[in-house]
Amino acid sequence: MSVNKEVKRITTNTLHKMKANGEKIAMLTAYDYSFAKLFDSAGVDVLLVGDSASNVMAGHETTLPITLDQMIYHASSVVRGVSRSLVVVDLPFGTYQGNSKEALSSTIRIMKETGAHAIKLEGGEEVIESIKRILSAGVPVMGHLGLTPQSIYKFGTYTVRAKEEAEAEKLERDARLLEEAGCFAIVLEKIPAALAKRVTESLHIPTIGIGAGNGCDGQVLVMHDMLGITTEFKPRFLRQYLNLHESINGAVQQYVTDVKNSDFPNDSEQY
Ligand code: KIV
Repeated sequence: MSVNKEVKRITTNTLHKMKANGEKIAMLTAYDYSFAKLFDSAGVDVLLVGDSASNVMAGHETTLPITLDQMIYHASSVVRGVSRSLVVVDLPFGTYQGNSKEALSSTIRIMKETGAHAIKLEGGEEVIESIKRILSAGVPVMGHLGLTPQSIYKFGTYTVRAKEEAEAEKLERDARLLEEAGCFAIVLEKIPAALAKRVTESLHIPTIGIGAGNGCDGQVLVMHDMLGITTEFKPRFLRQYLNLHESINGAVQQYVTDVKNSDFPNDSEQY
């Protein structure tokens, strides 16, 4: 199925219609203006300014260190590159878990200072009051269940979540709670495909999977992983569409050689 160019601007309503019509949702992370512009024109429905910026842009081991100011910088750059995609921004760790008032004021800063269209936060029942408060201010909320990287020190590892019955039941309960509260979509990260399919079929709102199989309403990948900029991260769920690491490395080595040999610039490349 090709990109639906009829849709001038993707909204949360568009995503609901896509689920109802069986049209899959393509989501990708983006952190800057230039890539956002490329992904928007290539037909990506949703651009997620993920707190994975902490890893792939800032080089931290986890998503925990990134700040609200840093997320706002990335998100406002992405928004300037977009004309069709819906832009969703992660609330970073420590900016919403305290209480619902804190969650709302972090959200308001993101919405006012970036021009983004929605926020995403991690968790189920434990953050439901915050979700309700943000929604009551008129801001669309995307949920995130399964492997929630902001809780990595609680989990201890990045392995598949909800393989055990009790955790799977909690995840199904949380998904229902998020839908009832009014979330417009839920990211399901690294859970068994059968569970993700069951959750997807039980909800009216779309699910977006990452390592959650083909039964979700859409898929999301981190841009650096799918473009092959990162080389060390190769989980089973990742499809690498390019080997940018190799291409960029080759191009830059050639540039260095050309400069060292005085081959660059040549006569036509100077004034
Ligand atoms: O921060 C991020 O990139 C994410 C995706 C992995 C869903 O939350």
